[in-house]
Amino acid sequence: MFNKLFGKKINKEDKMNEQKGLVKDECIPSHIAIIMDGNGRWAKKRAMPRIKGHHEGMNTVKKIARYASKCGVKVLTLYAFSTENWRRPKTEVEFLMSLPGQFLQSFLPELMELNIKVQMIGDKAELPMHTQKALDAAMEATKENTGLILNFAMNYGSRDEIVRAMKAMMTEVQEGKLVIEDITEERVTNYLMTAHLPEPDLLIRTSGEVRLSNFMLWQLAYTEFWFTDTLWPDFDEACFQEAIEAYQNRNRRYGGLKGEETK
Ligand code: FPP
Repeated sequence: MFNKLFGKKINKEDKMNEQKGLVKDECIPSHIAIIMDGNGRWAKKRAMPRIKGHHEGMNTVKKIARYASKCGVKVLTLYAFSTENWRRPKTEVEFLMSLPGQFLQSFLPELMELNIKVQMIGDKAELPMHTQKALDAAMEATKENTGLILNFAMNYGSRDEIVRAMKAMMTEVQEGKLVIEDITEERVTNYLMTAHLPEPDLLIRTSGEVRLSNFMLWQLAYTEFWFTDTLWPDFDEACFQEAIEAYQNRNRRYGGLKGEETK
């Protein structure tokens, strides 16, 4: 589609990927972060309870994880439950907390087959024990996998993460292990829950909302954003491909100049 839209010369590899329904290899974003929004509206449109929308949203997670893995994306971070989502009705929260278990039960064989490694960011200790167990089991079972990292942000809030990082640094200063002069951007990055991951290249938010909702505020400093009106349960491979193609057509400058402009 990219080639059709932008009139680029199609090489043999691109042609093959097009036939396989995959995006072209060139410049695949290494880390894609997604704010999966619109489950409730999807259900409402069908006169269904909100939890049906979340259940369908979980199926979209499987679809997109499969596709991202095939495209060669290295990390897919999904905002599954924020530190603010506890304010939702009890039954909805309970259902959302059951999703990691449902996901593991129905998707583990495929996670193994696709060599996908499950990880998480967020405050796991505050989750119900059954949710913690499901997440632990998924991470343990897939820990030796070397393909896509499927990173769930669960009970995650970026401000909470930054406060924790600050507290950890201050404690080290108090204990004489760290001096204030050594606090650099790199060091702050290393105190975040994403310390082991590259920064996201592409952020996708579904459902027409155009805000960050306390998601990876530090990590998204130079990320390309892509928004779509599509509701998360309707999001599919073609939407994901469209987002990647939009990314491939962006000119990332990181505050500097690129190419011709520097001459
Ligand atoms: C926001 O939509 C979505 C969530 C708060 C939950 C997202 C969770 C999933 C898609 C499933 C995650 C799967 C696993 C395995 C953990 P919303 O409910 O705010 O939608 P609305 O804005 O239309 O009401």
